Amino acid sequence: MSARAYADTLADLRGTPRTWLVTGAAGFIGSHLVETLLSLDQRVIGLDNFATGHPRNLALATAGLSEAPGARWHFIEGDIRDQATCHAACRGVDVVLHQAALGSVPRSLQDPVTTNGVNIDGFLHMLVAARDAGVKRFVYAASSSTYGDHPGLPKVEDRIGKPLSPYAVTKYVNELYADVFGRSYGTESIGLRYFNVFGPRQDPNGAYAAVIPKWAAAMLRGEAVRINGDGETSRDFCYIANTVQANLLAATTTNPDAVNQVYNVAVGDQTTLNTLYAELAKALRTQLPSLDVAPAVHGDFRAGDVRHSRADISKAASLLGYSPTHRFGEGLTEAALWYATQPAG
Ligand SMILES: NC(=O)c1ccc[n+]([C@@H]2O[C@H](COP(=O)([O-])OP(=O)(O)OC[C@H]3O[C@@H](n4cnc5c(N)ncnc54)[C@H](O)[C@@H]3O)[C@@H](O)[C@H]2O)c1
Repeated sequence: MSARAYADTLADLRGTPRTWLVTGAAGFIGSHLVETLLSLDQRVIGLDNFATGHPRNLALATAGLSEAPGARWHFIEGDIRDQATCHAACRGVDVVLHQAALGSVPRSLQDPVTTNGVNIDGFLHMLVAARDAGVKRFVYAASSSTYGDHPGLPKVEDRIGKPLSPYAVTKYVNELYADVFGRSYGTESIGLRYFNVFGPRQDPNGAYAAVIPKWAAAMLRGEAVRINGDGETSRDFCYIANTVQANLLAATTTNPDAVNQVYNVAVGDQTTLNTLYAELAKALRTQLPSLDVAPAVHGDFRAGDVRHSRADISKAASLLGYSPTHRFGEGLTEAALWYATQPAG
């Protein structure tokens, strides 16, 4: 069975409302999923405990709703480490998009127990709750960190190495649990191995902020950005619109070969940190011509970091019909516009 194009998927969704549960709804990726689903006339439940997410993300994601709150959008403030909360959230749900987790390799090295509790216990609670509620499809945020120390490039789904951090362990264990639930209980799941997602609403603040929002905020404050290592570390930066697309395709595919699989979700571009620094400065200066960007300073390499990363996205392309709408540069232009127009602070 061939994969359907994304445009057909969107048209089908508009005609057939489903009930979706988005965990991590107040986070960066989750809030974009909520916003897109609501714009497609879907019924959406959000679950989040605001550990790293923000009410303002929910406000932005639901700003376009014309119906009264409660008609198509319902938010549960709760913790996925609580089984009863997960069961309550899954009641009547057709599709789960499970995004809630504690991200960040350094955070997991600092506090592996908490990361394990949320990312493994919480994940398992969600799988059990989805199974018990008869959820039809469980799509979850996996991670490129699962490639660990495997040197191969581009990264191909079935060639992984040893994990380099507790975070990577948790994301790999998610894949193992999803797989075993498929074989033991018939749970239909799809894991999406995100590669460095970026875009509007990604949090620039805190010790564990991702590189693009952190650097954008530093450049806008006139501070020097700090590059870990020589700057030749590379990543496959993936704009949020591509990530949303992959979730909706995974949630709706009717191709039996596509289910109970994991997929790379990226673009297939490989960008070094040095290039990112230069391109981000350029994109911000396009928005704010008088911006004076301070020269970068180089520090030590960061523990647990993979040196190079670039995805082979052909599996998602052939089985799901995934076709990124934004290359790295296009996404960076949109992200820079967002960061340049945010109030300072
Ligand atoms: N952003 C990336 O580049 C990237 C890359 C690979 C994988 N991922 C994965 O994608 C998912 C979403 O990441 P994001 O970038 O949007 O991060 P985020 O921190 O913005 O979102 C995660 C959300 O989960 C919520 N959460 C955390 N612990 C929770 C708990 N115990 N109960 C309920 N909610 C909880 C947080 O409050 C937050 O709103 C995560 O699973 C992450 O591991 C992200």
